[in-house]
Amino acid sequence: MQSSKRTRKDSAEKELYVEVCLFDQIPVNFALVEAAVRQYIEHTIIECLGLFDHSKTTNEVIKKNVKEIRIDADEDVVPLPISVKLDGVNHEPAEQIDENDDVASLNILPLPSLSLHGLWESLLFEFSVKNYLMSYASTALTFTLMQVDSQIVTWNRVVLLHGPPGTGKTSLCKALAHRLSIRFCNQFREFQLIEINAHSLFSKWFSESGKLVMKVFRNIRELTEDRQRFVCVLIDEVESLTAARTRAVSGSEPSDALRAVNAMLTELDRLKSIPNVMILTTSNITEAIDQAFLDRADIVQYIGPPGVKARHEILSSCVSELLKRGIIYVNGGAQGDYLSKMASDTEKDLLTKVAICSEGLSGRAIRRLPFIASTRQCGKSVELVTYLDMLNLAVVEMKDRLTSTACW
Ligand SMILES: Nc1ncnc2c1ncn2[C@@H]1O[C@H](COP(=O)(O)OP(=O)(O)O)[C@@H](O)[C@H]1O
Ligand SMILES: [Mg+2]
Repeated sequence: MQSSKRTRKDSAEKELYVEVCLFDQIPVNFALVEAAVRQYIEHTIIECLGLFDHSKTTNEVIKKNVKEIRIDADEDVVPLPISVKLDGVNHEPAEQIDENDDVASLNILPLPSLSLHGLWESLLFEFSVKNYLMSYASTALTFTLMQVDSQIVTWNRVVLLHGPPGTGKTSLCKALAHRLSIRFCNQFREFQLIEINAHSLFSKWFSESGKLVMKVFRNIRELTEDRQRFVCVLIDEVESLTAARTRAVSGSEPSDALRAVNAMLTELDRLKSIPNVMILTTSNITEAIDQAFLDRADIVQYIGPPGVKARHEILSSCVSELLKRGIIYVNGGAQGDYLSKMASDTEKDLLTKVAICSEGLSGRAIRRLPFIASTRQCGKSVELVTYLDMLNLAVVEMKDRLTSTACW
């Protein structure tokens, strides 16, 4: 179970966000846990953001209930009142709405969801894209809560992330929705993530696409009728929309596809007036995004392959995990923070070399590399320096293969 509360660290004059992950026990007295954590945090020197070590606490409530405390501070985030309620993470699996089989299924995931726990932290980018998105989303939710008239101050509620495949766009959208549900747990009774794959709207139902789109959006509107529920809609790979429209204009697509595209654009416009919805979209096509769609997005953000610092962090997190699990070992034994604190210059240099060498690879490919390197030893335990050499070889091979197939 996971919860969220916010507190203020006076010395830094900065708003802190505190996420509390609880052991999976029911019932939990949230108020008691919150009070204990709040008091503990306020009387402890916070040295760095991220995972907060609470192992030394003597407080029985924390010891009994709290699994993990994570502290964050997004300076750009619009301040809200300090929250006073803790909420539970939803363990429910995604629900599907499938109307008489004539509608593309919607995946509905109650948020916060255990399946998305840790995703936000695992995504590493060179620039502050995560802060930027969080600021946008927090502002949108705050405007909603303050009932700002969207006819006067307009915003579209649509975000578009575009860039090559495997760069974390879909994951970022899901992680954003998950984080919002934690951060705003006091302001809405429930949060839901609705996933729609744009391909399923356009390809499956040849002559019925327009109607299908309308049905999907009707379902979404029904879900937003309860204003205490905040709905994040993820429309993945919207390039199919763009492609269908381009083909229609060039005459090579039946008019049905064009009707579907137009229906979707109209439906997006209708959602604009609904206060408790946000549309997160992704596209794998970097060039030529449909202008009509671009016009509807408040944020159009390019997400590219990770830079060298992000690549280094991704690789470090993978190697640390393998050290923790004993797949890699170092003489004398390794602690969790071995790479950052105790690694030899040779080990550090080797990792840096791999990070530099993996330029151009997507985050997805880089996260797979450590596994591919391990397959050389059939997953057997191997010494760190030897492993880093294997990792380097794996990068070179992957880049060779991808260059020859020219599809990365
Ligand atoms: N910048 C990144 N930092 C860390 N992991 C990443 C990054 N980009 C991609 N990944 C990894 O690749 C996986 C797949 O990414 P995904 O969100 O499906 O990419 P996209 O939607 O851009 O194709 C992610 O879950 C994550 O494990
Ligand atoms: Mg994707």
